[in-house]
Amino acid sequence: MSRGGSGFWAGELDGLVGRDVTLGMLRDLLDSGSRTAVVTGIPGAGKTSVLSVAARACAAEGRLVLPFTCHDSDRDLAFGMLVDLLSVAPGAEKVLDLVLPTAARPVAVDPLRLRLEALGWLERTSEAQPLVLIVDDTQWCDESSLSVLGFLAHRLTGSHASVLVAVRGDVPPEPLRRHPQVRLPPLADADARALLRRAGLQLDVLALPSVLDRAAGNPLALLELGRAAAGAGIEAVPSSVETAFGEQLARLPAATRRVLLLAAAGDGDLRVLGGRSTRTSCSTP
Ligand SMILES: Nc1ncnc2c1ncn2[C@@H]1O[C@H](COP(=O)(O)OP(=O)(O)OP(=O)(O)O)[C@@H](O)[C@H]1O
Ligand SMILES: [Mg+2]
Repeated sequence: MSRGGSGFWAGELDGLVGRDVTLGMLRDLLDSGSRTAVVTGIPGAGKTSVLSVAARACAAEGRLVLPFTCHDSDRDLAFGMLVDLLSVAPGAEKVLDLVLPTAARPVAVDPLRLRLEALGWLERTSEAQPLVLIVDDTQWCDESSLSVLGFLAHRLTGSHASVLVAVRGDVPPEPLRRHPQVRLPPLADADARALLRRAGLQLDVLALPSVLDRAAGNPLALLELGRAAAGAGIEAVPSSVETAFGEQLARLPAATRRVLLLAAAGDGDLRVLGGRSTRTSCSTP
């Protein structure tokens, strides 16, 4: 039975409010059954924050933590996530060789051999030291890596390896759909108020209920709407997080906005900024 997020798993150690039940569930899932847990939630619900508490707690308990964050701009790169993860994983050179194309072998590998080698590596490594793979933003994981991750996650029962992933939205990607899912619900009213207090946001008696109402228990929305309204009153409460971000952008100098626009157009590849930002003739206001 879960003991809630206590000891190393207390969210409070990282400034998190209202997630101790969730953290306790994750700790128990990583230790038992399929040893895999999938955290789901809308943008800003706190998935990355929860994963970061879990990573700290797992490391404090003596596990080897292998964390990875997927990026939208890399989702079309076959085995992109796996290559990045294995590049920093101890003793994974042989598996990495299988997915890195060479002049002699331009095409990737026998899929079954790759999966068995990866599983062998995971089992050997976790015998020496319990380990956990932590993958954030899995909605952006390339399909070939995801398929390998799913294969591994289905074969961890009885081992000392665990897998913890986070996914935006309600529906995990197919290879991870049959594992226990932990949804991040909206924060309760008392926790939402505690979050605002801890962030040092002073809201007047009219602005506070408006922020609580519009944020609907979403931590990111509480912080962004709270920051916009702090010291300014109810008229300053943005209608949504998007509006709050829009207002912040509008206050930036035009040149800074142009650079941000270029960076966004580059789909995460900041090389587009090289030497172009000063020459561009963007017609943004
Ligand atoms: N329980 C919490 N207590 C205090 N602050 C929190 C809590 N959860 C999240 N936050 C804060 O809210 C913001 C958004 O959290 P986070 O980045 O973890 O959300 P997310 O679900 O990963 O969002 P995304 O889908 O965009 O990746 C961060 O600034 C984080 O520090
Ligand atoms: Mg996140």
